[in-house]
Amino acid sequence: MIAQGSKVQVVDHPLAQHLLTRLRAQETAPHQFRRYALALSDFLVYEAARQMHVRETGIQTPVAPTKGVVLSDYVVLAPVLRAGLIMAESAQKLMPAARIYHIGLKRDEETLEAKCYYDKLPTSLPTDCRVFVLDPMLATGGSAVSAIDLFVKLQVKTIQLVSFVAAPEGIKRVHDKHPNVHITTGSVDTKLNELGYIVPGLGDAGDRIFGT
Ligand code: PRP
Ligand code: URA
Repeated sequence: MIAQGSKVQVVDHPLAQHLLTRLRAQETAPHQFRRYALALSDFLVYEAARQMHVRETGIQTPVAPTKGVVLSDYVVLAPVLRAGLIMAESAQKLMPAARIYHIGLKRDEETLEAKCYYDKLPTSLPTDCRVFVLDPMLATGGSAVSAIDLFVKLQVKTIQLVSFVAAPEGIKRVHDKHPNVHITTGSVDTKLNELGYIVPGLGDAGDRIFGT
């Protein structure tokens, strides 16, 4: 894993990078895209979860008593619709006790600003919970900042963002507003184009996952 500053980590494992390359390729069909996206999400969430807290516990194996650990964080998964759904599937498999709160955000294609059309957040959360905002694409950062804002309003302190691909512009926007948010990504790409797409990116993640 490459750390790009302490708050951005690029998962450079060959298996993850192979999957990301398959996702980028334009000939990858939606059914293959979903399969690769699920597998890549496993690696990214696994790395993001490295920061989780554990509690020591005593157990008895069939042979001897020993000490082990159990996860101790109250975990919240926040998939950003639509594309984040595929990451939630993988994250829930890795952390079955996690709560899932969906957030619906849509970028206005002209202004590129994100509009929230759905949020299923509760009125309060334990302030020491750990939130994973899941969105494959961090482009202008407008969607990520809007999603993070919702949890900051609930006074949550530990918020992580997991993406397949991040643009430098999006990373900057997130960290300008929320410097403590830790970002785990498959790649920091070159730039955004004039339409707000990540270059080289992988195109429209939602469209490619859902075949629309
Ligand atoms: C895409 C993507 C992110 C957002 C990133 O979603 O899945 O949520 O754009 O762009 P930003 O960083 O510039 O905000 P989109 O708004 O296209 O919605 P969709 O998944 O429903 O198609
Ligand atoms: N949303 C996407 O799905 N892809 C991009 O490149 C930018 C925003």
